[in-house]
Amino acid sequence: MPFCEDELIAGFQAAFHTADVPIIVRSPGRVNIIGEHTDYNDGFVLPAAIDRAAYVAVHKRDDRIVSLYAAAFDEYHEVSLSELVKQEDHWSNYVLGIADQLMKSGIDFSGFTLYLTGDIPIGAGLSSSAAVECATLFALDALFDLGLTRAEMVHLAQRAEHEFAGVKCGVMDMFASLFGKKGHVLNLDCRSLLYDYVPLDLAGYKILLLNTNVRHKLSSSEYNTRREQCEQGVMWVREQHPEVRALRDVTLEMLERIVLPKDEIIHRRCTYVVEENKRLTDACRDLKNGDLKALGQKMYQTHEGLRTLYEVSCRELDFLVDHMRQEASVIGARMMGGGFGGCTINLVREHDVQSILPKVEDAYRAATGLELTSYLASIEDGTGLYPATTDTDGITALRQHEIRKTAATSHRQHLHT
Ligand code: GLA
Repeated sequence: MPFCEDELIAGFQAAFHTADVPIIVRSPGRVNIIGEHTDYNDGFVLPAAIDRAAYVAVHKRDDRIVSLYAAAFDEYHEVSLSELVKQEDHWSNYVLGIADQLMKSGIDFSGFTLYLTGDIPIGAGLSSSAAVECATLFALDALFDLGLTRAEMVHLAQRAEHEFAGVKCGVMDMFASLFGKKGHVLNLDCRSLLYDYVPLDLAGYKILLLNTNVRHKLSSSEYNTRREQCEQGVMWVREQHPEVRALRDVTLEMLERIVLPKDEIIHRRCTYVVEENKRLTDACRDLKNGDLKALGQKMYQTHEGLRTLYEVSCRELDFLVDHMRQEASVIGARMMGGGFGGCTINLVREHDVQSILPKVEDAYRAATGLELTSYLASIEDGTGLYPATTDTDGITALRQHEIRKTAATSHRQHLHT
């Protein structure tokens, strides 16, 4: 349910007892059709921004205070820019991590008040954290006229996630949120950051997200461990193939010859990533050819790889994928995102969505004792000023803002990574 501008302004004014009118930014969550745990291995991903988003309403202050309010928790948090500290598992990390990165980049700005709301379910694997980071960054960029490009924002938000939230994530979530385009998936090369927009023509099928409503505790620590295991595999391969920089450059043959004799678990992790990169390339071809059934089969294969080789699935996710696979009107299903809970992504014949849902809800409850939540995701535009108004020349307010910014980018070369 999209938020309306007046409601957001009223929320901001009530939270901070002010008549100031804030600027508002919307930054969406994401789905990923295929290409999981490939981003931090210099591989490929196929994400898209969705109709669920984080919204921030932001206004400048004259002092160095950052004053935050999160509607979801009805909670305030106030801190000075000179003493930004992270708090374990706290929502403020996603906002303060951005302020921290801007300061570390030598960018000068004052305090601000920020009202945070949104409708991305937290912990569902739809990247609510990246959405908050990107919304904050985009808003501060507009507020203080920083002139950042979207590519710079991707890197800053990723570093904020690494340093303030403690997850060594790849670029996929930020990229999808910032670069999403209505009706399209992004075929992103996470090494070069070159991307194509591929039209997502689902011809009578829908993207149905099924939320397990579980998030197992080890998700962040296991995520970082997987990343280290991939890096270890690459280091071993490099001893014989110095040109190799990441799993992107590695073949199954190299893994079998070099990594398997050293460590069977690391061999399995790396095998999954190498196979997943290949699957994504093939899946893009399926999508361009309109062969959704072939794409769906690859989603099942991805799930199998994540379950048995990468070992980031869990009982609840496996149950949902196994259950949906039995339905004739489901052509593909898999766990999505980092793993250990969150959502599965399913391609379901539109006509049958309503009849399938009660069945899977009952089955899930009977098997796990938990309630299932479902969302039909539509593919929308990425981060922008909200609402994205269009003037008489057909140029959106967001585009105008970016045209102004392009002129002011030259002094920030140091931000490029
Ligand atoms: C999380 C991370 C992403 C990506 C996925 C797995 O969403 O934030 O960078 O690694 O997991 O594909």
